[in-house]
Amino acid sequence: MGRVAALAGVSVRTLHHYDTVGLVRPSARTAAGYRAYSAGDVERLREVLAYRRLGFGLREVAELVGDPGTDAVARLRRLRGLLLERRDRAGAMVTAIDRELEARAKGLRVTPEQQLGMLGARLYDAIGGAYTATRRTEPRFAAQIWDALGDARTVLNVGAGTGSYEPADREVTAVEPSAVMRGQRPPGSAPCLAAAAESLPFEDRSFDVAMAVSTVHHWGDPLAGLREMRRVARRVVVLTFDTDEPGWQDRFWLTRDYLPEFAAVLAEFPPLAGMADAIGARAEPVPVPWDCADGLFEAYWRRPEAYLQERVRRAVSVWTRVGPEVEQRAVRSLGDDLDSGRWAERNGGLADLDAADLGLRLLIA
Ligand SMILES: C[S@@+](CC[C@H](N)C(=O)[O-])C[C@H]1O[C@@H](n2cnc3c(N)ncnc32)[C@H](O)[C@@H]1O
Repeated sequence: MGRVAALAGVSVRTLHHYDTVGLVRPSARTAAGYRAYSAGDVERLREVLAYRRLGFGLREVAELVGDPGTDAVARLRRLRGLLLERRDRAGAMVTAIDRELEARAKGLRVTPEQQLGMLGARLYDAIGGAYTATRRTEPRFAAQIWDALGDARTVLNVGAGTGSYEPADREVTAVEPSAVMRGQRPPGSAPCLAAAAESLPFEDRSFDVAMAVSTVHHWGDPLAGLREMRRVARRVVVLTFDTDEPGWQDRFWLTRDYLPEFAAVLAEFPPLAGMADAIGARAEPVPVPWDCADGLFEAYWRRPEAYLQERVRRAVSVWTRVGPEVEQRAVRSLGDDLDSGRWAERNGGLADLDAADLGLRLLIA
């Protein structure tokens, strides 16, 4: 035990504790009859320690390593994905610190909000708690997505969140890296693994279809995640956003007139054509109904007052990403224009529309 502890860089006490709680039990015997770690025990110990280092609690680690449905390669893939996600987050935090250092060097004031903003790198663990206030299944999106699933029986939902678009009549497995989002899945919903799109813990062609809804723009490497979906499933269905058309920012009055910074949020996001190519998909427009039930960014295009509500904005990551100063400016300016009648003047035609094409697209491969 001492040797294994030294190699793993943990105390013998820690190993004893894992033994007592049944997390890693040395199952072999030495020639002298002492208990010892078999190769399999060491493999399990490595996994336990890696998850601990990723910040998982002992109970969650026990669930992760105790999953009998997955083999060693699948488990390594899942661990790899979570580590990549952590690396991307750390990268985003370093970038935020660099930005702050630059601002300080120029003598600019750094607000408490901006200081906390860098934690936005762990976005859904930070903002996920506000998600369920307005985010739920929009039946018309659901119908279009479920139609695209075809006759698939087994479904993988990547970046599943609280499970808004999971079909009840098929066998669903969910993947979601944020513990906060996993914790908000309703009781009885599909089993959900802690993993990230870029490294899915499944063998090739494990599912009839892999779906991803309103999540690709959050992935550290969207194309890698899409290729992973393609690898593990025969069919791929993805609800995402089209930034190919020049001037796409003008499609929606909110980005055109109040929040041009949205373009910078999506600056690194791959073009729709590139994403479609990565999985061999065709794209279908997904119109946003005027009374859209899922409170995503575009949902309230005919109900502009909604954007003045904090609870509506907190359930949409864009508002956190642009930062509090930009958010406040945009909301103030929209409020003024609603009061003065200027918004109505500019957007009068919208009252007659039941649905609008605001760039949402369903990729089907
Ligand atoms: C806007 S929510 C969408 C959730 C759900 N699909 C829905 O439609 O309600 C985006 C989700 O993507 C998840 N996410 C972020 N990075 C991810 C990654 N690299 N792989 C998979 N999911 C990721 C977030 O944790 C969050 O739950």
